[in-house]
Amino acid sequence: MFARFSVFAILVAFVSSSAIDKRAAPVNQLVGYATLNGGTTGGAGGATTTVTTLAALRAAITGATPKIVQISGIITGDGDTIDVGNHTTIVGVGSNSGVTGGGFRVKKGTNVIFRNLQLSKSPAPTDLIELQTSTNIWVDHNTFTSDLDHDKDFYDGQLDMNHGTDFVTVSWNVFQQHFKCSLVGGSDNTGDEDSGHLRVTYHHNHFLEINSRTPSLRFGTAHIYSNFFDNVLTSAVDSRDGAQVLIEDNQFTNVVDPIETTLNGGFAVQRSNIFTNTTIETTIAAGTLTTVPYTYTADGASTVSSIVVASAGAGKVTGL
Ligand SMILES: *[C@@H]1O[C@H](CO)[C@@H](O)[C@H](O)[C@H]1NC(C)=O
Ligand SMILES: *[C@@H]1O[C@H](CO)[C@@H](O)[C@H](O)[C@H]1NC(C)=O
Repeated sequence: MFARFSVFAILVAFVSSSAIDKRAAPVNQLVGYATLNGGTTGGAGGATTTVTTLAALRAAITGATPKIVQISGIITGDGDTIDVGNHTTIVGVGSNSGVTGGGFRVKKGTNVIFRNLQLSKSPAPTDLIELQTSTNIWVDHNTFTSDLDHDKDFYDGQLDMNHGTDFVTVSWNVFQQHFKCSLVGGSDNTGDEDSGHLRVTYHHNHFLEINSRTPSLRFGTAHIYSNFFDNVLTSAVDSRDGAQVLIEDNQFTNVVDPIETTLNGGFAVQRSNIFTNTTIETTIAAGTLTTVPYTYTADGASTVSSIVVASAGAGKVTGL
């Protein structure tokens, strides 16, 4: 009886994992631009501390010594930035740990990982995460949540990058209920510091009920693959000011203006995407970004919505 039960249990486990998990891409591995320039390891090798208060969080993440800081529970911010030092991993415990009412900033920093965090409702001008003049950042398996009840400028960005930031990977996150999701390149006037930088990979993210900027990119270079754009109300990928974007193997469902190039002088290459209830503009300014300088495994557009819904966001990977 016991033996028969075990065989049955193994069969069930096998059948259900093969039915759900058609994923080709690893769910637990850094790929993309953050692997370049020496790679991104965060606080690997450093001491681990666990924090439950804003003061303890601020203290734990400063300084350049490698460190892993676990947040346990939801910490309420004070609306101001929470500044992150070099060589830091910030990771949530379980499925409901993170910060509300404030956001992180990496300024003139390097080598930071944000993982498994619930981040919500930071009043402007503080973004949920802002990367300023920083390199080698991995933003993975977080859930960013706001609301669309306020004016579009009540919150600022969910994940903004500016002033020459470079080598960033944004993977397996849920970005939901927000007006201005991810602005890469803060101004039309910063070409001197941004041109040749702002290299970002977005893969396997779920953009759910977002108004715009998934992302909006000025001057930089973005590789956007195997994401699920799920109800985007104004515009999704907005390539501006000479930016080059490669958009492949994504699913766009109920998206207004999925790929914009001509409005503000950007470029894009799009291939192997699926557009459902979505009209793609016929005048995409053809870009030059057709290959990227790293290896990666895309999931095909037809499988992306189920894969991303199953595996993106906080609570899907544990630990580091
Ligand atoms: C953090 O890294 C940046 C970029 O390498 C460097 O300019 C800065 O001095 C570092 N900060 C500290 C406190 O070591
Ligand atoms: C497409 O749009 C129609 C009309 O708004 C809606 O009823 C339908 O559910 C949408 N289809 C999908 C796949 O979202």
